[in-house]
Amino acid sequence: MERLDKFLCDSGLGTRSQVKQILKSGRVTVDGVPEKDNSRKVDPDTQRICVDGETLGGMRRVVLMLNKPAGYVTATADKKEKTVMELLPREMLVLDVRPVGRLDKATEGLLLFTNDGNLLHRLISPRKGVKKIYYARHEGEAQEEDIAAFAQGLTLRDGTVCLPAELTPLGPGESLVTVCEGKYHQVRRMMASRNMTVTYLERRQEGMLTLENLPRGEVRELTETEIEKLEQEG
Ligand code: URA
Repeated sequence: MERLDKFLCDSGLGTRSQVKQILKSGRVTVDGVPEKDNSRKVDPDTQRICVDGETLGGMRRVVLMLNKPAGYVTATADKKEKTVMELLPREMLVLDVRPVGRLDKATEGLLLFTNDGNLLHRLISPRKGVKKIYYARHEGEAQEEDIAAFAQGLTLRDGTVCLPAELTPLGPGESLVTVCEGKYHQVRRMMASRNMTVTYLERRQEGMLTLENLPRGEVRELTETEIEKLEQEG
């Protein structure tokens, strides 16, 4: 935590007396609320500090992992549905994070968020081939021909061609599916193309990241080491 006036001076807004005037005139907000007190303590890492609506530097890069429950859409806003943003604590929302890719409303499991646009694009690019592993419960039973068809690259019912993927049967009506891309409803459509309608879907892994002991509905911040590993993969 540091004094607001010191942070504003360090950000290049002006001298101490100029900053005092700017504060007095009500042009500064902290997390959206006007702030005139120059001795107010702030944390620029977690709080959004704006002058005339413009965010000042100091916002750190963050990557969050959510264990998404069913019933939330992956969107930053929606008129009718609950969104995954509602599951993030307020101090994380002000860091302006966005979901990395998407999970369907009914799909559970690992969903990343970041405020680093470059990292976001690298992670969702199929060319980078970051692996995503899904657990699926489904109708029917995966056979050798299905495994081979996944490995070759499936053609979906609408003619869309998928990159080679891995299908690992775990038992009757239960499989793991590993893909490197994120087309709309991809896993459900891949399974449907082999007559195995998905009844439950959970993303368990992205790159080397797993949910580990993160409870459903909870979010945690990745460590710098985890972010570096992700960057190497993406
Ligand atoms: N594939 C799907 O069909 N749904 C998801 O949510 C993610 C991958």
